[in-house]
Amino acid sequence: MSKPDRGTATRCVHPGPGRSKPFDVLAEPLFQTSTFSFPRFSDLDRYLEDPTSHHLYTRYENPTTDTLQSALADLEGTESALALGSGMAAISTALLAGLEHGDHVIFMQDTYGGTQELARSWLPRLGIETTRVAEATPDAFEAARRENTRLVYLESPTNPVLKIVDLTAVSDWASGHGLTTLIDNTIAGPMTQRPHDLGIDVVLHSATKILGGHSDLLAGAICGRSEYLRRCRETLRVFGAVIDPFVASQLIRSLKTLPLRNEHINASALRVARYLEARPEVERVHYPFLESHAQHAVARRQMSGGGCLVSFSLGDDLERVRRFVDALQVFTHAASLGSAESLVSVPVTMSHYHVPREQRLQMGVTDGLVRLSVGLEDVNDLEADLERALAS
Ligand SMILES: Cc1ncc(COP(=O)(O)O)c(C=O)c1O
Repeated sequence: MSKPDRGTATRCVHPGPGRSKPFDVLAEPLFQTSTFSFPRFSDLDRYLEDPTSHHLYTRYENPTTDTLQSALADLEGTESALALGSGMAAISTALLAGLEHGDHVIFMQDTYGGTQELARSWLPRLGIETTRVAEATPDAFEAARRENTRLVYLESPTNPVLKIVDLTAVSDWASGHGLTTLIDNTIAGPMTQRPHDLGIDVVLHSATKILGGHSDLLAGAICGRSEYLRRCRETLRVFGAVIDPFVASQLIRSLKTLPLRNEHINASALRVARYLEARPEVERVHYPFLESHAQHAVARRQMSGGGCLVSFSLGDDLERVRRFVDALQVFTHAASLGSAESLVSVPVTMSHYHVPREQRLQMGVTDGLVRLSVGLEDVNDLEADLERALAS
């Protein structure tokens, strides 16, 4: 149960319904158990009548996970939330819960690679039809809509060129046709963008990224209305990609600093983007809060900051890009995003390595594109690091 009269930072520090804790401990207790006992048979009778009265088994529910889930629902402003073992567990569970044999789902083109593989290879095996559309606009979605379309799947900002989807426009169009909208909100995070407030039905996260924030855990989240989440819970119980209680407790700890981390990262990323835009060696910078971004006005309307990712082009010479990355000393060359550590990656050699050249060029992923995930270091050190590497 959220306490909407309190500010977000307060609610992140004091998550959950505020029940009393055993021994009056201050930190959120970790219930590291696979199962729960029923000292009297009548306890089991009560549980069978009312599953909220007790816990049965950690694949079904766990008190530590319950606290995390209520914090996640509160952050995204949804009725309910489910925590899972990874972002891909959240994405696949949310899709399986909303689809059955013979249904059709529309995906926008620029989604996370694992999501693309799910749409291309796995959903069709289950008799689910999928269509990918290049432009994530109501007109393009309308052209792809069929009689059996059930879901529309979005990601905004996109990785790595940070295109923005007008979430209000798409959710208005979808609700007019009785379609359920899902969004992967990993890149912005819930402190920067709350898609449910803009009409999107289901919000997904790789909690491995800014929610976890320290590159030391894998987790995922599905946030939405109670009825959709009930179906997700049923799917999760069978497919089993649950979160471990220990990871849930680590995430509860991470959420306490999320507002601070988010604010710092958004401010530093904007500074880094402005710095790069002023550099003659850099051809083009992609960042939603730069005035030069094609959808800057939409981004300002639906996001409170530009997020952690900045990407830019160093031309088409991959050798030059490799020298640049090797010269960096503060940015670490690694996959992932949203961590305390600033990261750098080259999409053609990492996230988009398996995407056919023509398709990735259509997505704006050129050979010389560099992606930064701005972290919590001093921004002066980040700029000095970029300066040194550009000079190399
Ligand atoms: C935008 C986005 N969504 C989903 C995922 C998958 O998350 P996970 O690695 O936690 O399964 C990732 C991972 O990089 C991602 O970047």
